[in-house]
Amino acid sequence: MRVLSGVQPSGSLHIGNYFGAIRQFVALQDEHECYYFLADLHALTTIKDADWMRALVRELAAGYLALGLDPERSVIYRQSDIPEVPELSWYLSTVTSMGLLQRCHSFKDKVARGVLPNHGLFAYPVLMAADILIVRSDLVPVGKDQKQHLEVTRDVVASFHATYGKEVFTLPAPLIQDDVAVVPGIDGEKMSKSYGNTIDIFGPEKPIRKRIMSLVTDSTPVEDPKPKQGSALYRLLKIFAPVEEQSWVESAFSEGGIGYGDMKKRLFEYFLATFGDARTRYDELMADPAEVDRILLAGAQRARETVAPLMDDFRKAVGIR
Ligand code: TRP
Repeated sequence: MRVLSGVQPSGSLHIGNYFGAIRQFVALQDEHECYYFLADLHALTTIKDADWMRALVRELAAGYLALGLDPERSVIYRQSDIPEVPELSWYLSTVTSMGLLQRCHSFKDKVARGVLPNHGLFAYPVLMAADILIVRSDLVPVGKDQKQHLEVTRDVVASFHATYGKEVFTLPAPLIQDDVAVVPGIDGEKMSKSYGNTIDIFGPEKPIRKRIMSLVTDSTPVEDPKPKQGSALYRLLKIFAPVEEQSWVESAFSEGGIGYGDMKKRLFEYFLATFGDARTRYDELMADPAEVDRILLAGAQRARETVAPLMDDFRKAVGIR
């Protein structure tokens, strides 16, 4: 199976990104041919500062690599290094109805939140379809919020095939993570950059520790048992605690005698145990930008080798070649 997924460079990687997506990307490398890319062209729809864009791409690449995406086993590249992607996106645009894109939740949500939509934001799902179709991916691991975009991709494939009377694309299937992967943020809502409730994976320890210590808890006294239901701290401890400490977490909540402050300190220790090696590797990569650039360019080269013959089929199908 060919697997493909992309992540937008839109902010620091947080633990929700890891448990919700990256961990699965890493695991898929063992069994499939994987393509993972940094969706910088997509990010242009919202990021309008060149220096910031460059910094975000570098950080995201270092983060991906530090967390275990392996350029030996997977093809890891920048979307903008594959000029065939926007080319294919255009072909797809011409068989995609306006109505299909107008119905997209993520577009409608942004507009509802007062974002003045640009054409790129509207065309976003078409570019995403191009990412997916250009390597003929079979499986696309994404979060629930991207499910509709996968449906759009499938609709675009149908429309293209109907228009040209030729089957040139593979119909991709989404691989949606289940609810276990929903990581709560410090306020108990789903962890998300847009909610401002994230805990970063990388960067200096101090602010991360502070962030964990600021997790919202109730006012149960130290000596009392603590409610697990609705507790972000409980869920995070369960996510991070190693198997042999799971029972400690359970009894800390059900027996009482341990305060929230001490539990948070424990959570911070688990955090460091989980991400310590990745954090070291991240710092090394951030100190060696040439190495990151080299890895991305090598990945782009491999991606373009896959893309070249397929692109030929797509061009021929529309009569451009
Ligand atoms: N839209 C995706 C997100 O924001 C990122 C993305 C772009 C993507 N192209 C893709 C994901 C292709 C999967 C496949 O999460």
